Amino acid sequence: MGLLPLEKQSKLRQFKDIEDSMRGLIAEMLIRNIIKQKNLRNDYQFKLATTTFGKPYLPDVENFKFNLSHSEDWVVCAVDENQIGIDIEKEKLLDLQIAYQFFTKKECDYIFSLKNHQMQRFFEIWTLKESYIKAVGLGLTIPLDSFSIILDSNDSTIRFESESNDTAFYFKQYTIDTFYKLAVCARGDHFPTEIKQLNVDDLVSKIIG
Ligand SMILES: CC(C)(COP(=O)(O)OP(=O)(O)OC[C@H]1O[C@@H](n2cnc3c(N)ncnc32)[C@H](O)[C@@H]1OP(=O)(O)O)[C@@H](O)C(=O)NCCC(=O)NCCS
Repeated sequence: MGLLPLEKQSKLRQFKDIEDSMRGLIAEMLIRNIIKQKNLRNDYQFKLATTTFGKPYLPDVENFKFNLSHSEDWVVCAVDENQIGIDIEKEKLLDLQIAYQFFTKKECDYIFSLKNHQMQRFFEIWTLKESYIKAVGLGLTIPLDSFSIILDSNDSTIRFESESNDTAFYFKQYTIDTFYKLAVCARGDHFPTEIKQLNVDDLVSKIIG
């Protein structure tokens, strides 16, 4: 923790739940390690700025973008030269009917067209939509029903339809763990085929040597 800027340390200490604090700390270590490894900064104590909507970014480096997400056992990070968003969620039991309140008709059709796997499909749509919202970085000022993510279960393609004219976004889902859904949204269709995984010990030893 001592390696982080003081204001970040104090933010992490404010979490009531120690696990939230740990996820936040690991997320900080993860992105700082990536930035240092790419030689974009010389140490780990540099400041990350946040937009008015809360999206963190590395100031003064135009062609380096990142986004972080955490859910229960996982902290994930995606980096790219252009806008990027990532979302991980652990599946949990909830009233799937809320899909009708927040998602588009096409998305609800995808979720409810099968009797089985509705919860998995709900979280697929959830993480894909959230990855787009996080890539754009404007939070929930983007109405959730103003765009659709269309998953084609026959050929595994993911299409994006939006009321906005800017539809040049690409999506990829990764399998990371049972009961988790993970989605990334980027400006280009050049996703890595696999994710790099690190455990906390590896991350700590990379940082403190
Ligand atoms: C904050 C938000 C960006 C994501 O929240 P979330 O899914 O609960 O949390 P995640 O773990 O995926 O992401 C949190 C991280 O995103 C980053 N983040 C914060 N604000 C962001 C923004 N406006 N845009 C992109 N990334 C942002 C931060 O790194 C944050 O980490 P921190 O909490 O340790 O500071 C925001 O979109 C939100 O509140 N969403 C509400 C969720 C929802 O109702 N989604 C509907 C289903 S589609």
